[in-house]
Amino acid sequence: MKILVVGKGGREHAIITALVESPTEAEIYSFPGSDAIFELAKPVDATDLPTLMEFMKTQAIDLCIAGEESYLVTGDGLANCCADAGIPCWGPPKEAAQLEASKEFAKEFMVRHNIPTGGYAGVDTVEDAQAAIGGKYPTVLKFDGLAAGKGVAVCLDKASADEFIDEVLGQRKFGEGRLLVEEFLDGPEISIFVSVVDDEYQILAPARDYKRIFDADEGPNTGGMGAVSSLEMLDNALRTQIDNEIVKPTVEGLQKDGLPYRGFLYFGIMLTQDGPKILEYNCRFGDPEAQAVLPMITGNFVDYVFEGAKGNLQPEKIEFMDGWSICLVSASAGYPESSRSGDVISGFENVEGSRIFHAGTRKNADGNFETAGGRVYVIVARGETREDAVSRVYAESEKVSFDGMQRRTDIGTRNFV
Ligand code: AMP
Ligand code: GLY
Repeated sequence: MKILVVGKGGREHAIITALVESPTEAEIYSFPGSDAIFELAKPVDATDLPTLMEFMKTQAIDLCIAGEESYLVTGDGLANCCADAGIPCWGPPKEAAQLEASKEFAKEFMVRHNIPTGGYAGVDTVEDAQAAIGGKYPTVLKFDGLAAGKGVAVCLDKASADEFIDEVLGQRKFGEGRLLVEEFLDGPEISIFVSVVDDEYQILAPARDYKRIFDADEGPNTGGMGAVSSLEMLDNALRTQIDNEIVKPTVEGLQKDGLPYRGFLYFGIMLTQDGPKILEYNCRFGDPEAQAVLPMITGNFVDYVFEGAKGNLQPEKIEFMDGWSICLVSASAGYPESSRSGDVISGFENVEGSRIFHAGTRKNADGNFETAGGRVYVIVARGETREDAVSRVYAESEKVSFDGMQRRTDIGTRNFV
């Protein structure tokens, strides 16, 4: 079987590792990929969606997996093109991928299907933004488009709101798009990952990520500085509530709206005093949550995804390990405002009993890995208890370093009682 995985980050490195370790043998291709990924997968001779599709057809690729979201909504849409070519795709058509690409589309979907979420208004002008905020802080402002997790600001006061409104509507920092003003929701967050296959679904292990750059959840938002996963994070009552109030109505809503969906669907949820409320959908696995969740999966991941992409959800093909999995991100100097490339990374060879997934790295002329992006790599460790996993992931991460490295010291401890 030939499988092509789209993406190049730590999540895709984790997905490809899970495929490689699966008992069904597969030849894996990666686009655009990275030097670390190319140790497991073959590169693809393509530059854009049309040339990628050409490659898939000539190579007779059996399964396409969308690791990241951008190609799902580019041009005619990755999954739409795969459907035309008769190639099973794990990732939704562009119409359904609007759930992630347009926050306003997602909010309208939630309201239409009575899925609990915070109030909101979509605005185009500074005046309308101010009116929607109505002088009430904290307020949450979101750019209505893809912004790699950086188009969201939780503003505690007018000064920070004014600044973000100017970035979105004045400077157009993220490109063209509206601004969403959202009700501020308070509580612990949880990410729920679900495999959706048309009208069927399976809830996978939950996770929690840490979005701020600094300890104690301070500083600007990032793509995520670490993540924790365990089945123990949801008791049965809460799991059932989230299923009944959020997941099931979402899958039914997709059906009612004529939006076929096959792939991972990510629910960002806030556990508020008034019950769980959805913050956002993503049409893919989380990054870095995938790096924590996927190493906990046993069984046959290749068959699971292949059958799912063909329309057969087979939950019995995979199982989740007990215990806790924690992934810790090391980021480069300047992140998240910028990122510094070219700092040589040393010590990977000393890491034991843990996973290393590369995000922003490349091989230099000497064959050593160096930094080449904001989030550089993650180390993932498992433990019977959360405390075990925390101490292991930190002990192993200590062994690897590079100039300018940034790493939080409270991943897996903060936001747990
Ligand atoms: P999003 O990309 O929409 O998930 O937002 C990124 C992060 O901003 C979330 O993980 C939350 O920590 C925070 N956030 C988003 N929406 C809200 C909200 N309505 N209330 C409070 N925090 C929010
Ligand atoms: N970790 C958040 C995301 O993948 O969007």
